Amino acid sequence: MRHLMSPLDFSVAELAELLDLAIDIEKDPSRYRSVCVGKKLATCFYEPSTRTRLSFESAMLNLGGNILGFSSADSSSAAKGESVADTIRVISCYADICAIRHPKEGASLVASQKSSIPVINAGDGGHQHPTQTLTDLLTIYSLKGRLDNLRIGLCGDLKFGRTVHSLIHALIRYPGIRFIMISPEELKIPSNLKEDVLDPGHIAYAETDRLEDAIGDLDILYMTRVQRERFFNEEDYLRMKDFYILDKTKLEQAREDMLVMHPLPRVNEISVEVDDDPRAVYFKQAQYGVYVRMALIIRLLQEAGNELQLPPKEDKNA
Ligand code: NCD
Repeated sequence: MRHLMSPLDFSVAELAELLDLAIDIEKDPSRYRSVCVGKKLATCFYEPSTRTRLSFESAMLNLGGNILGFSSADSSSAAKGESVADTIRVISCYADICAIRHPKEGASLVASQKSSIPVINAGDGGHQHPTQTLTDLLTIYSLKGRLDNLRIGLCGDLKFGRTVHSLIHALIRYPGIRFIMISPEELKIPSNLKEDVLDPGHIAYAETDRLEDAIGDLDILYMTRVQRERFFNEEDYLRMKDFYILDKTKLEQAREDMLVMHPLPRVNEISVEVDDDPRAVYFKQAQYGVYVRMALIIRLLQEAGNELQLPPKEDKNA
């Protein structure tokens, strides 16, 4: 059974195919409206979510399938003490595919080991968030035309931000990627990411705490919020929450073709006055999340042996 736990679960070639399918879907999603008729997606969310859960549900509904699930641990039997392993065994009887979000790192991996349907990690603690990465890759590929030779500024909470961790894992497989890690000292990327991923791959990266110094040199600025729920004490959060605020003045130093991305939700780190700048693509990014999740649901259902009727691909040059 094929699951999605980390962006590395797909090879570069498989990812290219998946993005290709997402791009075909984007051209005219209605052509895919009957692909998953009779199939069910379960969304099991033990942690808050707006975009990830609703974009998964929207994706399955767009494909003609049905959805079921829960949106908080309180409204599931987790509140009675049921384990994730038991819950997924039961969900396997009710649905054809499942997306799960949990505050504990590795929870979706445990679920996948007990599941007889494909399991998608929709975020496990501060660890990974592979479908946000698919969203980010589709956004970059669609708007920049490439996934290689990019200078990418990652800004904010690089310690707890799982979207950043997954994105780093995914992007280092493309040539000519250079990261500028922009964070306060206490929120630097975890040292194991440097030692196990960046250094062995000889990936170029620099670290700074000054957004002003880095912004002029970037192709992409990936902003993140400070992850309040992962802090041990509120004082530390309050001290760091407004460390970076991207406003119009700071953006003046950026290149004309730089993209400002953000997985959302935004708190204070991007001032609303930036939203109308053509470089601000975070709401478009959320829209791409639906197309890429449609593509992912199709692929994983097919790999699990479901016969799906796909429309012929539209002409690439159309
Ligand atoms: C992210 C997450 O849940 O990690 N949100 C999302 O899925 N788009 C980012 C965040 O919560 O800061």
